[in-house]
Amino acid sequence: MAAEPLSNGAAYQSVPESYVLPGDKRPGSSPSSAAAIPVVDLGGDDPDRIVKQIMGAGREFGFFQVINHGVPGQVMGEMMSSAEEFFGLPTEEKMVLYSTDSKKLPRFHTSIGNDQEKLLYWRDCLKLGCYPLEQFRHQWPQKPARLRAALEAYTTAVRAVALRLLRLTAAGLGLDEGHFEGELTAGPVIMNVNHYVPCPEPSLTMGLAPHCDPNVVTVLADNGVRGLQARQRGSGGGWVDVEPLPGALVVNFGHQMEVVSNGALRGGEHRVVTNARAARTSLATFVMPAMGCAVAAAPGMVPDGEAPRYRAFTYQEFMGAYTAAIGDRDAVLARFQNKD
Ligand code: OGA
Ligand code: NI
Repeated sequence: MAAEPLSNGAAYQSVPESYVLPGDKRPGSSPSSAAAIPVVDLGGDDPDRIVKQIMGAGREFGFFQVINHGVPGQVMGEMMSSAEEFFGLPTEEKMVLYSTDSKKLPRFHTSIGNDQEKLLYWRDCLKLGCYPLEQFRHQWPQKPARLRAALEAYTTAVRAVALRLLRLTAAGLGLDEGHFEGELTAGPVIMNVNHYVPCPEPSLTMGLAPHCDPNVVTVLADNGVRGLQARQRGSGGGWVDVEPLPGALVVNFGHQMEVVSNGALRGGEHRVVTNARAARTSLATFVMPAMGCAVAAAPGMVPDGEAPRYRAFTYQEFMGAYTAAIGDRDAVLARFQNKD
């Protein structure tokens, strides 16, 4: 049975049964950490400093925030307010785009959005194809009226930031700066416009379960309402709040960065907890490989005489395993691990 979207104008007084997670899956069942996600200033003229900071954050969290990234505040603001306006539309107008077919674009759905799920997550999502613009522009929602122009400006600018970050990351790994250009980033750019309505009992449920994005890099903006948490690497493995920073973009590496860097950088595991007071809206922009892309550790990343940590695969093959494992970070990676 397809689930009803949460953004229907209702103010929830209690958490409906289908959203109540078993104890071991609730937010409080794993430790939190007081560490902070690094903030990298992309301004100035010291690329070495920027590269060093990205590498440090990439090793420990696979997560960082960037400021002075060059995306105009007005472009970010227009995109965020059109997104919030979308979720405020009357339910019937959003339902025009509703589907439980995960291949459909654009699509409005709730939770993960398939017909099989029994336990639901506390989020609604508008998933959009964004780039190349010519491929997707004509299918963008008609309402709200300013969404199309906002998407065009935002997608173009944020993709450029992502590609710049990938050049800096490649340099930090000692690779050719263009290593991630070409097939590794030739897939469509997809955006999850996520919306988490206020939840009366955040300890019982979750906006999104722990996962690592399957792609190369994700760039996220939020409306200033907290909820996103990143997992710190290492024995503690605690959850760290990603503090909303006005005007910043949150960057997280996906699984493919971990594979290409042969484990030097981490695909950032994250989850979203719900908020009792305010609605969180986030824009997650995914830069991905082409489906047919052959993904493998970059030659320079594997020590002489050793096998790469992960065997080579096509992105399509990886996505099959990712969907089957419903995003469980270690289960997905284990499918591609070299044993020796
Ligand atoms: C996602 C995601 C985080 C957020 O869409 O994959 O992790 O804060 N979103 O909404
Ligand atoms: Ni994610």
